[in-house]
Amino acid sequence: MNRERLDKWLADRTPYSRKEIKAFVREGAVRIGDRTVTDPSAYVQDGDSVSFRGEILAADKHIYIMLHKPKEVVSVSVAPGDRTVLDLLPEDYRRNGLFPAGRLDRDTTGFVLITDDGDFAHRILSPKKHVEKVYRVTLRDPAGEEYADRFSQGLLLGDGTQCLSAKLEQTDDPRCVRVTLREGRYHQVKRMFASLGNQVVELHRESIGGVSLDPQLPPGGSRLLRKDELDTMTE
Ligand code: URA
Repeated sequence: MNRERLDKWLADRTPYSRKEIKAFVREGAVRIGDRTVTDPSAYVQDGDSVSFRGEILAADKHIYIMLHKPKEVVSVSVAPGDRTVLDLLPEDYRRNGLFPAGRLDRDTTGFVLITDDGDFAHRILSPKKHVEKVYRVTLRDPAGEEYADRFSQGLLLGDGTQCLSAKLEQTDDPRCVRVTLREGRYHQVKRMFASLGNQVVELHRESIGGVSLDPQLPPGGSRLLRKDELDTMTE
């Protein structure tokens, strides 16, 4: 059975330094199972459930960040001359190997997941996994009554691409709809509405894999994903 010192274990999984972690532990912010542990040199064993400031941490050492992407920021790791989603992260979250798991267009806002865990990103992005992404879409023209059926049947895009069945829900505003996709093709939402003779004027990603963008996060804001959120995404 593997074991590791608590302060090191926490420093590998949170944005805090060993020194800050020690202070948190002494203040009683950490529990292993149902015990509050105040000794930073205590040990964590495989299978232990560790909670830090009230939240259970994923045992995995990777980092998973929820970012509220504003407009005019690009969802790539490096883009000379442009601001990237990584540029928006606070110093504490920065580390080598981070990348956005999935892209939003420059003018699209909303939930971007940033991680350094390639396997996890693959599970979220793989077309075979059909992880749901929900978008709030504002259209140039009111949504047609036939749209929901056309989405559900699987739209054919202008270039001949056949989309999977998708869900479209009307909202109180006739120009605003909510779309749930199980795949992520280039400019997919915009191309879907273009194939119906309409145009997307605002696009916002509300959720990924059943996890909603935290309403407390302002555009440009970010926070770590909680363990329950990670579990929901990969269920
Ligand atoms: N579909 C689009 O057209 N653009 C995005 O940014 C995301 C989905």
